[in-house]
Amino acid sequence: MQQENMFPIVAKEYTARQINIINSPKQLGHCDIDSEPYLKKLGIDILNKKQPIQFSPNVNEAIHRWAPYVQGFSASFVQSVFDQYKNDYKNPTVLDPFTGCGTVQVQSKLNGYKSFGTELNPLLKFIAETKLNSWDVSPKELLKVFNKLDLSHHTKAPRFLKSEKQFSKEVLSNLEVLKGGIDSLSSRTNKKIIDLLNLAFSSILVDVSKLKRSPCLGYSKSKKVDPHAPFVLMNQKVYQIIEDLKIIQSEFNDFISIPSQVFLSNSMEYNHSNKFDLVITSPPYMNGLDYVINYKIEMGWLNFADNQTELKKVKDEMVVCDNVSKGLIRNFQPIYSNDWIEDIKSSIQSNILRRGKYRRQDMPFIVHKYFDDMYKVFKMVVPKIENGGRFILVVGDSLIADVYVPTDLLIAQIGKDLGLNIEKIEKARNRRSGQIRSYKLRETIITLRK
Ligand SMILES: C[S@@+](CC[C@H](N)C(=O)[O-])C[C@H]1O[C@@H](n2cnc3c(N)ncnc32)[C@H](O)[C@@H]1O
Repeated sequence: MQQENMFPIVAKEYTARQINIINSPKQLGHCDIDSEPYLKKLGIDILNKKQPIQFSPNVNEAIHRWAPYVQGFSASFVQSVFDQYKNDYKNPTVLDPFTGCGTVQVQSKLNGYKSFGTELNPLLKFIAETKLNSWDVSPKELLKVFNKLDLSHHTKAPRFLKSEKQFSKEVLSNLEVLKGGIDSLSSRTNKKIIDLLNLAFSSILVDVSKLKRSPCLGYSKSKKVDPHAPFVLMNQKVYQIIEDLKIIQSEFNDFISIPSQVFLSNSMEYNHSNKFDLVITSPPYMNGLDYVINYKIEMGWLNFADNQTELKKVKDEMVVCDNVSKGLIRNFQPIYSNDWIEDIKSSIQSNILRRGKYRRQDMPFIVHKYFDDMYKVFKMVVPKIENGGRFILVVGDSLIADVYVPTDLLIAQIGKDLGLNIEKIEKARNRRSGQIRSYKLRETIITLRK
């Protein structure tokens, strides 16, 4: 499948990595062409259905906007799934095995649907749960508690983070005062109000720091933050929450008590006691983001992690990303494989050998572990889908060491192996490869049916 580059370029002023990129046979390549042999074997076509599926429009949507989240769904995508199948399921029970900040579950509740989810990052579980289960908080009471915060206490910034580097001196001191105010609320204060204030506090942290998330967390040289920004943004966030609570209590009052549960657990292991009509999810993308390091600031300030070892422990339990511990990959014993995975692994292996150097020499095994992890999730979820129910996943494909990995088609194959039918695969948008910018990748919606 690999083509030889006819005109290899070697120039002294380039780094080895740059030379590999310039000489890549995948320059100007396209996932659609590289997918052809796989599609032929599956006997399906990919339909074009351009639509916004990323989180960004959620910043204008009630509740969804309480916490910024780069890696989430758009609420309107989840709504479009509900609308599409409203005649197939009267009152569906919904599952999201990778809850994240809870987009699927919040949108389920806004439709009056019961929902369940699993999430391994305790901060994200907290955010999702607070967005789901504080609809009955009195806006007046929240405002009263917020206005009376005692700002004479300081809560020290988490010691294991480099807070002095991440925030200006004044901002850091103002954050310590704000957090001190929340932490000194009496134990008689409604816990849901304390949770909402902590959620509001966590959601402003990156905005007032010297960092940006785009989508990985990194320093921004050009960013300027006013010393009073923590108070200004916290105020805005609390007023936004108050506004949304008023909307909920006037327009969605009947749904306030609809059960919505998020379990702090591993979707590869969690045995649900319910059955589901719709499973809607967006798993981590292969080679993608580290969902722990990206949220370490909020995890530290909200006491969900005390040190790097704890962060690493959560990360290594997750569906694998390329930032995972080497030891975990060394000890990896697969329970699932197929010819496609084996071919992809050996192509990656030989390209790494040809290059002589690669970011992770163990990349073939990371790729294998990704599909093995997804297989384990499917093993737990598929038996819990009602007959006629659907499993809908939004995923992106990858280009790794010049080898195309059709993540969507491999996941569809896993579903097929476990008895699901591939109903359709739709391309929602094109993406660029992070390694070879001219190579076109895609983001697809896989719909599997039991
Ligand atoms: C793409 S995000 C999901 C975003 C979600 N759709 C939203 O809109 O908020 C994937 C999530 O899966 C979580 N995760 C990764 N591995 C997991 C596992 N084994 N079990 C449960 N959650 C996991 C990550 O922490 C991350 O929040």
